[in-house]
Amino acid sequence: MAETSANDSRLFTPYNMGKFNLSHRVVLAPMTRCRALNGIPGPALATYYQQRSTPGGFLISEGTAVSPTAPGFPHVPGIYTEEQVEAWKKVVDAVHAKGAIIFCQLWHVGRASHQVYQPGGAAPISSTNKPISRRWRILMPDGSYATYPNPQALQTSEIPEVIDQYRQAALNAIRAGFDGIEIHGAHGYLIDQFLKDGINDRTDEYGGSIENRCRFLMQLVREVTVAIDADRVGVRMSPAIDHLDATDSDPLGLGLAVIQGLNKLQIDHGAKLTYLHVTQPRYTAYGQTESGRPGTEDEEAQLLRTWRRSYQGTFICSGGFTRELGIQALAEDGADLVAYGRLFISNPDLVLRFKLNAPLNKYVRKTFYTHDPIVGYTDYPFLSKANKGQATLSRL
Ligand SMILES: Cc1cc2nc3c(=O)[nH]c(=O)nc-3n(C[C@H](O)[C@H](O)[C@H](O)COP(=O)(O)O)c2cc1C
Repeated sequence: MAETSANDSRLFTPYNMGKFNLSHRVVLAPMTRCRALNGIPGPALATYYQQRSTPGGFLISEGTAVSPTAPGFPHVPGIYTEEQVEAWKKVVDAVHAKGAIIFCQLWHVGRASHQVYQPGGAAPISSTNKPISRRWRILMPDGSYATYPNPQALQTSEIPEVIDQYRQAALNAIRAGFDGIEIHGAHGYLIDQFLKDGINDRTDEYGGSIENRCRFLMQLVREVTVAIDADRVGVRMSPAIDHLDATDSDPLGLGLAVIQGLNKLQIDHGAKLTYLHVTQPRYTAYGQTESGRPGTEDEEAQLLRTWRRSYQGTFICSGGFTRELGIQALAEDGADLVAYGRLFISNPDLVLRFKLNAPLNKYVRKTFYTHDPIVGYTDYPFLSKANKGQATLSRL
């Protein structure tokens, strides 16, 4: 195992992300892991995130519910009660103790939920009354899968309340000690349900033109930046990914419209957002299909390049990156930082392994969303242990 030489890669060079001085470019991507029993992040999460922390490393938390109507998976954490805020403090402290930086990903799944996850068994909210098609299935609390129910389109007058839930959640995240927040505007969840013309069928000022479809996200980003400052806010989008039927007739144009809105907001606010995080089309959230692909590798690269060049600030890419593809993306100036998901699940010391170009543990898909606090969560071996016994490695 040869250590990566300095000119081999910018992956291991420092990066100044606004007020945060990162020591390398390998980011933990946000990943739902369903280990926060009853919405409360416990000691297992502290261990999990601490294992993946490095001095000057950057972590993005799993999607975290902004309100009681936000969840659509079992045992995902929230950040809307005092108990949750207090519980998160211990997780964040564990990360900070290792010298890493952590943002909380603020999440509302919108119609990607089910009555079992909703207060009073109500229908989930969305931009639309149309359900997610039967092609997709929702994970139920008992581990079975069900079809998605009919959602209830938000009335125009109800939208400010939802935006306020994000604002309050952002304030809560800062109180819990998070260094900032990421607004989850990707993968077919609530914000994406407003952005995409394959879903949004509204006739009010939140539907129709691209500008109208971007309005919900833009209002939300504005409110959150006023509440906690722009330099603690990142935004994630996936204009070219059709996860949960989130299709759009013009992904390139939609991405550019979001970017123009964010650029303008930065000018109006007089401060930069922390970053824009874009999921590559080659990834679909469950990694099982290639359905999110808009076209060839070249077309995909073209989309990314255009968005990268248009956004005035830190750009994070994510989705299907290996060590080599990450090195390449940075060398070609395709991004400033690369977020890794599945490889980080199975390699708590991914940064070190990348540095050494060491072998990687394989991830076990069937424990992605199970609830055991250890198995498939914090029991993936670190390099030294893996080196000692191939038996451990081959088990994974
Ligand atoms: C188990 C799992 C859970 C995920 N949960 C989230 C999530 O909560 N929020 C989010 O924005 N993306 C989520 N993603 C997507 C990842 O952030 C990432 O973009 C994706 O895994 C692609 O990167 P990779 O190819 O390095 O795994 C999830 C992915 C996986 C595998």
